[in-house]
Amino acid sequence: MNEEIYLKYQYALKMLNTEIEILIDNFVFHNGYNPVEHIKSRIKTEDSIRKKLEKKGLEYNEKNILLNIPDVVGIRIVVSFLSDVYDIVSMINRSNNLIIKKRKDYISHPKESGYTSYHLIVLVPIYLENHVEYIESEIQIRTIAMDFWASLDHKIRYKFPNEIPAPVSEAIENYALDIKELDQKMYKLNQIVDKYQNKST
Ligand code: GTP
Ligand code: MG
Repeated sequence: MNEEIYLKYQYALKMLNTEIEILIDNFVFHNGYNPVEHIKSRIKTEDSIRKKLEKKGLEYNEKNILLNIPDVVGIRIVVSFLSDVYDIVSMINRSNNLIIKKRKDYISHPKESGYTSYHLIVLVPIYLENHVEYIESEIQIRTIAMDFWASLDHKIRYKFPNEIPAPVSEAIENYALDIKELDQKMYKLNQIVDKYQNKST
């Protein structure tokens, strides 16, 4: 990747991190609690960009990267409860600085693997010397339970570069259901906890 485009991606990552940080600070101020477990952001490595383009049968060049890799810039927001995922999504919906280009709710529609998360592709403005450019970036929002699953799934996939043996993929898919159930239980428990707290205050 040439230096100029890499700088633009770095700039977009900074803008996105700052915007998310401010939105969450605002959320904490209004709701009195912080839904975030942790946040990770990154710029996709050149190696990984090459692989993705190769998979799509495309040559490695700037134009193909800009048009075909929407997640060179990525941020992952990991929250405590299912309801927090949707609170964060509506917070991003209301942002004046991010333009939502695409959304994929893999929570209501899990992927075949069992993967769940809420994905947004947003346009992040970067303010250059005499004009504004918009850089596509990916936001992933998920609970810690979903993150636990995705992280192990990722490690397992890495160990089987060709095909995952059926018993293994079946197990992962089943555990995704366990995770879903646990998330729902935790959500309900949290509502009960809230009720107790409202009674005692
Ligand atoms: P599709 O054509 O829908 O597959 O689009 P895509 O691959 O461009 O984007 P998608 O939203 O499916 O996935 C983007 C990111 O989500 C990936 O880079 C991963 O971080 C994550 N992801 C998607 N599917 C899986 C999965 O099965 N397991 C894990 N661990 N992560 C996944
Ligand atoms: Mg995919």
